[in-house]
Amino acid sequence: MPTPYAYFRKQFVPLAEAKIGVMTHAFNYGTAVFEGVRGNWNPEERQLYLFRMREHFERFTRSCRILKIELPYTVDEYCEITSKLVEMCGYQEDIYVRPLGYKSSEAVGVRLHDLEDDFLLFVTPFGPYLDVEAGIRCGTSSWRRIDDNVIPARAKVTGLYVNSALAKTEANENGYDEAIMLTHDGHVSEGSGENIFIIMGNQLITPPVSDNILVGITRESVMLMAREELGMETVERTIDRSELYIADECFMTGTAAHVSPVLEVDHRKVGDGGIGPRTARLQKLYFDAIRGKMPKYLRWCTPVYKLVRT
Ligand SMILES: Cc1ncc(COP(=O)(O)O)c(C=O)c1O
Repeated sequence: MPTPYAYFRKQFVPLAEAKIGVMTHAFNYGTAVFEGVRGNWNPEERQLYLFRMREHFERFTRSCRILKIELPYTVDEYCEITSKLVEMCGYQEDIYVRPLGYKSSEAVGVRLHDLEDDFLLFVTPFGPYLDVEAGIRCGTSSWRRIDDNVIPARAKVTGLYVNSALAKTEANENGYDEAIMLTHDGHVSEGSGENIFIIMGNQLITPPVSDNILVGITRESVMLMAREELGMETVERTIDRSELYIADECFMTGTAAHVSPVLEVDHRKVGDGGIGPRTARLQKLYFDAIRGKMPKYLRWCTPVYKLVRT
């Protein structure tokens, strides 16, 4: 039986013992940064592959810099702790790893300075987040994407996710699977937890990093595979809302969402309303890559188990 463990206060402990006090600064003010790393189970090899763990921790350290969170770990040390924790848990299914750097002082007062920082990590089983097989229906959100000068979207700040939560719930309550958020000047930014791409003719297009997106690791992986495997360069440029209505294909990318085809936006079919051919190819390539099935992209996959599991 898998056993859930956490890394908490510099120790590996049963998940149930990893508890913070009610006065913890991060809990009160959202002063924490986090990551989401997927572990993808390969049933033939009986192996769990952590996908682009190093890149996630590199982004984590950048988020820490923005929030003035100082932690005594190198990227290599984060990776070692993560591999060890996931191995201890022993899952034989898809999982999600959640590192968190947070203002750990039990203190009242809004600020980032003069506070203690800490790091924790936990692991949880995690299946599909959106319907990647069938595709999804999206709605433009009435909630605007938070601006870099409000809370920097390139940092995965916990408090920032209230913006995503407002948009996601509004979308679901309106009958959509996911929200598409616009920037303050009305251009397409991203989903509540995904980056967005459109295909028009032979062009793959995605909003630039300056349109208040999280600079996604899946986004970068897909851009690279589109170039290497499909010969398609990605154009990073501002996208109008109405371009979503006339695109040939559209999809969203994210650690949780993988490559999710978008079939409809604001009750308008994308293309013919089915999964587009290039989206389908990119999705297949991505699924093979994350489960360690493409030798060319094995460098992105960290195997967790040293021995073949029975
Ligand atoms: C707001 C937001 N945008 C985009 C993404 C996709 O980023 P990644 O592909 O690194 O998971 C995420 C997920 O982490 C997210 O929360």
